[in-house]
Amino acid sequence: MLPWTDRTGRFAPLKCAAFAGVLVPAAWIVIEASFGWLGERPIMEAIHQSGLWAVRLLAVTLAVTPLRLALRWPKLISIRRILGVSVLAYALLHFSLYILNQHFDLAHVASEIIMRIYLVIGFIAFCGLCVLGATSTDGMIAQLGTARWTRLHRFVYAITVLATVHFFMQSKLDITQPIIMAGIFSLLFAHRIAQSRRGDLSPLQTAGLAFAVAFATALGEALWYAFSYDAPLIQVLAANLDFSYAVRPCWFVLGAGLIIYFARLARPWMASGKAASLPSLRKPRLRAGARPL
Ligand code: HEM
Repeated sequence: MLPWTDRTGRFAPLKCAAFAGVLVPAAWIVIEASFGWLGERPIMEAIHQSGLWAVRLLAVTLAVTPLRLALRWPKLISIRRILGVSVLAYALLHFSLYILNQHFDLAHVASEIIMRIYLVIGFIAFCGLCVLGATSTDGMIAQLGTARWTRLHRFVYAITVLATVHFFMQSKLDITQPIIMAGIFSLLFAHRIAQSRRGDLSPLQTAGLAFAVAFATALGEALWYAFSYDAPLIQVLAANLDFSYAVRPCWFVLGAGLIIYFARLARPWMASGKAASLPSLRKPRLRAGARPL
């Protein structure tokens, strides 16, 4: 099965779009590298960009199920494997560039990883991604059985936590990006927990989750600055309402939550679109003069 075809070998536009989409950041890194746009330390910059995209695509992969359930659009699951494998590919690129930066001295790479806790955490996350990637083929799914495969792939949540901790620990002063990602992951985890406990979520519950997790993100950020730099909690919280300097992380998290909310609102529209495309559900056309039954 090619990344742009379905199981019957027919062209699948959704899979093709997902495949093209995950290639864009890699293509951009290659363009930047070839035109010398990566700055004074190009390999380090490429390490940063590949790591960032690994985490972002992890978020997109985890968003598939909440969006599929909100929209009641089963077809969306067809792009999850492409997205998941792309996370592994970007993490592999990230690690390979790190090895390149150490001039392929594998003994040095190993000692660096062992000596730095944030690299140990990144390495464990990377090993976890390799296990999930290796067990994602049709053959392995059949061999493991659906129940065992599902149990194993729940480790993606632990890997997400490790990747986020690695992200936080390598950030120096500015923790904006890790806070955004931590907030978005919390939102997606909250959706999975709420959906598994309460089943289908109403639009109001979906909006409630968006606002609650966005507020928790703002609070988490303010507490981080309060504990790390003695910054006044209320003043940091109030900075979320000042858009003159930058858009604070909680607004990105709210935006992600509202995407799921609007997906939930669009459900009837999706359902009517699906019904219209099913020949058996279309209203039968009446010939002129004929009476409906
Ligand atoms: C094999 C294990 C890994 C190694 C050796 C590694 C190494 C690194 C290094 C050296 C940096 C830059 C640190 C600095 O500037 O001081 C970094 C940053 C980063 N890594 Fe990793 N990493 C690994 C695994 C991962 C994994 C599995 C992910 C995500 C799934 C990840 C995501 C990130 C992110 C998001 C950044 C920060 C990017 C930015 O701020 O622009 N890393 N990593």
